[in-house]
Order: sequence, then C-alpha cells, then structure tokens
Amino acid sequence: MRCLPLIAAVAAACGTPKPPPTAPLPPDKPAAAAQPAQPSAEADSVAKQAEIKPQAPAGPVAPAQLREMPYLLQVVNEVKRTCPNVPMSFGRARAEVQLNGYVVPAGWLVMMAVVESNQNAIFTNPAVFDPDRFGPERAEEKRHPHAFMPQGAGEMSGHKCAGYDFSTVMMQLFTVLLVRSYSWQLPPQDFAMLWNRIPPEHKSGLVVRLRKADAAKR
Ligand code: HEM
Repeated sequence: MRCLPLIAAVAAACGTPKPPPTAPLPPDKPAAAAQPAQPSAEADSVAKQAEIKPQAPAGPVAPAQLREMPYLLQVVNEVKRTCPNVPMSFGRARAEVQLNGYVVPAGWLVMMAVVESNQNAIFTNPAVFDPDRFGPERAEEKRHPHAFMPQGAGEMSGHKCAGYDFSTVMMQLFTVLLVRSYSWQLPPQDFAMLWNRIPPEHKSGLVVRLRKADAAKR
C-alpha cells in the first residue's frame, strides 16, 4: 500500500485538482489547515482531526481507540474513494446485464472501473474530497448497495478484497502517527494523477515537506 497519496489526502489535497500554494505553518497549527479542500471546511476539519490527540495522544494505538475516532474512519474511506490503489478489477458476467441501452451477454469478461465508480454522481460533488459524506447525517455510501466499492463489492466470502479491514487499520494508524507527530506542507506542484500506474501516482512524484512535531506536543 502506498502512503504518499494518503499524506496528500489527509492534507485534504487529494481530489482537489489544483490546491493553492501553501504558506509556512505557524509552529503549533495542525497541518491539515494548510491545505483545505474548501476554505469554509478549514475550521471544521481542524476541529475533527483534533479527535486524534485526545483519543491517542502517544504510544501504541489499540483497536478500541480507533473505534472512538469515527471521523478518522470517514477520512480513510474518503481516501479510498478518491485515491484507490487498484483502479480496476475484472470478472465475468454471470447473467445478461442491460445498462444504459447496452447489453453485456452472460459469460462476457467485464472490467469494473473502480475510480469512475467511486466518483459516480450518486455522491454529492463526487470530485470533492469531503469525509463528511461518510458521516451519520449524510451516509452517502448507503445510497446504493454498490455506491462505495473501493475494494470490490459483495460479501467478504466472495471476490471482495481480502485486505479490506487490514488496509483500513493500516491507513488509520498511518494517519494517527502522521497527524500527531508531524506537520507538513505540499509545495506548489502539479497534483495531477497518473491513473495508468498501479498504484496511481502523482505526476510530480508528490513533494511533501514534513516537520517532526515537538516531543512535548506529540
Ligand atoms: C487500500 C488498499 C487496497 C485497495 C484499494 C485494494 C483493492 C482491491 C480490489 C479493487 C480488488 C478486486 C476486488 C474484486 O475483484 O471485486 C482487490 C482484491 C484483493 N485484494 Fe486488495 N486492496 C487493498 C489492500 C489489500 C491488502 C492490504 C491486501 C492483503 C493483505 C489485499 C489483498 C487482496 C486479495 C487477496 C484480493 C483478491 C480477492 C479475490 O480475488 O478473492 N488487498 N483489492
């Protein structure tokens, strides 16, 4: 699993085609405030990321602590939606499918376009990085059983990604360590993605300036 897209997304840059250049951070300002997806989201996003410091201020992080950080899971899901590591998957049509006037006969090989599927218009402003869409008030992922499928659809006993929960926990832990231990900046660069790479990469290679937080503030 690549971590760089996660850094960008935690910084609320992923899914935002041209984030503005960042100004240097004041020493104790949470890093995510430097790259809000939308200016109005800044205060809200800072407040929500603050759930990491009370719940997991230092040391090892247990599953019970992760469960107490619902917004963290929303951020991870939004990263999976906007930056899927695996942009497509393959299968075979078990039965004939009719879709928008096209017919896929039973037995044909089919390809699921994961990126396009997760940016479907079933989501509100699908191109915008917005973890609140997974919050209880909006729950956009429940608008259709297949609305959100960054790692395949259906039951775990089927063809769905075997690393679904593992990748979720890894991304949660990575985010906790990043947010509580570092501040970061994304210097001006081309944030376009090369979607033909697996996993997809930033055209620029994604340049990130990381600064380790003061031990006292960690
Ligand atoms: C965020 C990280 C990950 C993403 C986006 C991802 C995505 C996917 C996708 C799209 C599929 C195809 C599902 C389908 O055909 O319907 C898949 C399958 C699979 N993934 Fe992942 N994956 C991730 C992490 C992992 C990890 C960490 C592991 C192992 C530890 C893993 C193991 C597998 C396996 C074994 C399959 C094949 C399942 C099958 O064919 O029955 N994945 N993944």
